[in-house]
Amino acid sequence: MTSNVAVIIGSLRQASYSRRIAQALHELAPAGMTLTELPHGDLPIYNGDLEANAPQPWERFRTGVQGFDAVLFVVPEYNRSIPGGVKNAIDVASKPNGKNLWVGKPSLVMAQSAGPLGGLAGSFALKQTLTGSGSVVMPHPEVYLGRVATLFDSDGPMVADTKEFLRGVLANFDTWISRFASR
Ligand SMILES: Cc1cc2nc3c(=O)[nH]c(=O)nc-3n(C[C@H](O)[C@H](O)[C@H](O)COP(=O)(O)O)c2cc1C
Repeated sequence: MTSNVAVIIGSLRQASYSRRIAQALHELAPAGMTLTELPHGDLPIYNGDLEANAPQPWERFRTGVQGFDAVLFVVPEYNRSIPGGVKNAIDVASKPNGKNLWVGKPSLVMAQSAGPLGGLAGSFALKQTLTGSGSVVMPHPEVYLGRVATLFDSDGPMVADTKEFLRGVLANFDTWISRFASR
């Protein structure tokens, strides 16, 4: 099937491992799956008082979430949770009342961290928020990329076995998306 998947990269820093992982996914995606970054770093913190004249970045982000078939998150763990900007992005697209764009939206979480646990706690926090907002989060296979620096050949490409693991994950996500596709 064909699917247009938004990619939310949880880290804003230039040399982010989350970004490097996201970039490596393009060549691993199954035929028909297109991955496109959906930026979130410019979203003002959610404040219902602003809804009367919603900030342009909110509108851009909401239009993005609405237009994509699914959303893939590549996130680092921050303090046993997720970066605040990612939580804010989810909040923004869940409002105003009656216009929660996450309901029924397929999603996938890829977590990574410098340490051995691979962002497990951050991943759980993100899945809790996504599930709570109505997204259908792919439960399996789970993606915890620990000791992330070792998953790349120095400044070069991702190592082969991680590539093959993620290729399989994306194939599963393709099937997951097709279950919920409204086409
Ligand atoms: C504010 C902050 C909090 C962090 N908290 C955790 C944490 O709770 N657990 C962990 O394993 N790593 C933690 N880290 C390390 C990052 O998860 C790790 O360096 C990650 O690979 C950074 O992702 P990036 O390269 O995409 O920016 C933290 C990093 C920052 C900046």
